[in-house]
Amino acid sequence: MTIGCDVISIILDAVGFGALNLDKLYRVNKIAGEDEEAYITNVHESCGGSAANTIIGLARLGLSTGFLGKVARDRPGQLLLENLENEGVDTGGVIKKSNGRSGTVQGFVDLEGQRALYVDPGVNDDIQSKEINLEYISNTRLIHLTSFVGKSIQVQKEFLESIPDSVTVSMDPGMIYAEKGIKTLEKLLERTDILLLNQKELEILMPHQEKEEEKMKALLDFGLEILVVKQGQNGCTVTDGDELYGLDAFNVNCQDTTGAGDAFNTGFLYGYLTGKSIKRSANMGNYVASYCVKMPGAISGLPFLSQIISKYPDKMH
Ligand SMILES: Nc1ncnc2c1ncn2[C@@H]1O[C@H](COP(=O)(O)OP(=O)(O)OP(=O)(O)O)[C@@H](O)[C@H]1O
Ligand SMILES: [Mg+2]
Repeated sequence: MTIGCDVISIILDAVGFGALNLDKLYRVNKIAGEDEEAYITNVHESCGGSAANTIIGLARLGLSTGFLGKVARDRPGQLLLENLENEGVDTGGVIKKSNGRSGTVQGFVDLEGQRALYVDPGVNDDIQSKEINLEYISNTRLIHLTSFVGKSIQVQKEFLESIPDSVTVSMDPGMIYAEKGIKTLEKLLERTDILLLNQKELEILMPHQEKEEEKMKALLDFGLEILVVKQGQNGCTVTDGDELYGLDAFNVNCQDTTGAGDAFNTGFLYGYLTGKSIKRSANMGNYVASYCVKMPGAISGLPFLSQIISKYPDKMH
């Protein structure tokens, strides 16, 4: 890794490090099988990526944020950069490659809501350690990691070995990393302070312990400071090894849970970065996620601080 001098070191509250994808969702009359033909009735395009969703949420809540990732100089790459910039996220850490393809996900949804997804990781999985400018994150308070489908996990491992001890590391492994197994994740977990995952991912990562509390204890033993297990409409469990809380989700009219986990991470990390207890932070996670599930998609429901303050002045304090 290089300590570059072309990026002026800026002070940021949180920087995301994960895949950036342009999602294209096609409504189709049916999902075509081998040698079949189907037709498209509608197309919807949106910018995606788990870490990007969480970081955009933090920017909307008024924190200073940035991003580490990679795009190509193509239309999807341009849209992904513009989207982050429009949300107030600094893109100084995003590597721009002159050739190759930016990450895209093509999704096909039929009349019954059945889906087929095709992920093209493109340059997301072409990140080299030497391309990452460590100066960019040297004054960052927290770095939030999410998954890559291919070999950029190796770059994340090297990255965590190179960053200052003062940087807090949070990670949401998602299914992609959970399925790689605990051995592959060991190095990442050893430098992770806050791990946020869902119940299914906990089960896959920790198949040998019988009870959920035993699974959580075994994960904490990798040196985590805080572990959060997200439980969908049942809320979440949070522990720091000393205290453990189960917190109910907010009772809202749920429209679409896409990105609920990323929104939860926004609320939790906002609480953490503003000095709240783990219980209060987890409640903020549930709260921000409840905004997300009321609206379609991962981003549209993410609240702005002013929205929350005008409705519930004490909610985010
Ligand atoms: N029906 C619901 N009503 C209210 N809140 C919900 C509902 N479903 C999910 N949530 C909130 O969203 C949070 C995250 O959801 P979930 O446990 O499904 O995470 P996840 O599986 O990581 O999500 P994702 O699929 O986005 O990665 C929950 O902890 C809860 O706060
Ligand atoms: Mg998740």
